[in-house]
Amino acid sequence: MSMFIDLSELSPAQKQQWLQHAIAPRPIALASTIDKEGHINLSPFSFFNLFSSNPPIVIFSPARRVRNNTLKNTLENVMEVPEVVINIVDHNMVQQTSLSSCEYPKTINEFEKAGFTIEKASLVQPPMVKESKIKLECKVIEIKSLGTEGGAGNLVICEVLRMHIDRSILNEAGNMIDQQKIHHVARLGGDWYCRIGSDNLFQVEKPNVKLGIGMDALPLSVRKSEILTGNHLGQLANVDEYPTIDPAFDNERLREIIQYYSVNPEEMDKELHHYARVLLDNGKVMEAWQVLLAGSANG
Ligand SMILES: Cc1cc2nc3c(=O)[nH]c(=O)nc-3n(C[C@H](O)[C@H](O)[C@H](O)COP(=O)(O)O)c2cc1C
Repeated sequence: MSMFIDLSELSPAQKQQWLQHAIAPRPIALASTIDKEGHINLSPFSFFNLFSSNPPIVIFSPARRVRNNTLKNTLENVMEVPEVVINIVDHNMVQQTSLSSCEYPKTINEFEKAGFTIEKASLVQPPMVKESKIKLECKVIEIKSLGTEGGAGNLVICEVLRMHIDRSILNEAGNMIDQQKIHHVARLGGDWYCRIGSDNLFQVEKPNVKLGIGMDALPLSVRKSEILTGNHLGQLANVDEYPTIDPAFDNERLREIIQYYSVNPEEMDKELHHYARVLLDNGKVMEAWQVLLAGSANG
């Protein structure tokens, strides 16, 4: 049973809470900016993402403070000096990053408060965070205000001019970031964060070259399965050609199921679905198809 919430009936703080718990996880930009007097500022923003690769555009959003509707130093700085370094936050930096979000006065340099090391950038004035393994030197090309009330975001639209990448997070060939080596962290609702690591990373094959046959093409008994989930059906429906029975497919467990349940086709189907589920969980899509086709053939 679901409930609904009309956002117009919530206070600004409640809106923020519901939305931040729902739209998660969000990557964290640790933004380094500078004002026209040269004061450096460093603050984290999880209203942040990549929006275009050509041109290379990232956007983050310093909101008007919910408490007193004032502007954040980062926003004032990019209005004065339209440059920023976005330092990508990984797990090694998360506590210091949180510390840097304290509302220190404008003249206080959060690099010092949070204990991060200043590293000179090459194309823009704000410095980089040495500890960050990915840094983006950016030019601010537009600032779009989304409102005048407390909590209203301000889109800081940034063009990425140069990326700095620590070699320790590259793959063996040294030509791409190894997703297992950078332990990205992301923000969720309240005080919750998550950490990316090999225990929670998985791959989903991209169906962008060939067309998947689609859920509607799956046999009804498979589509209505109480054992296979939406994820399993999605894997089966992602093949580009409807598979046919392969007479050469020889599988001991399949033979056992067919023999054991030959007098009870309904139970056989269930058992085949259970076995197909195990195969799909191990990425063996074509084997799972053979198991399910054997069911229809015997049923
Ligand atoms: C992980 C993290 C993510 C945050 N994301 C945002 C955000 O997206 N937008 C925002 O306005 N404040 C965000 N904050 C709060 C700001 O970092 C905080 O208000 C900070 O004091 C702003 O600093 P400034 O006034 O020096 O710019 C976040 C804080 C943390 C710890």
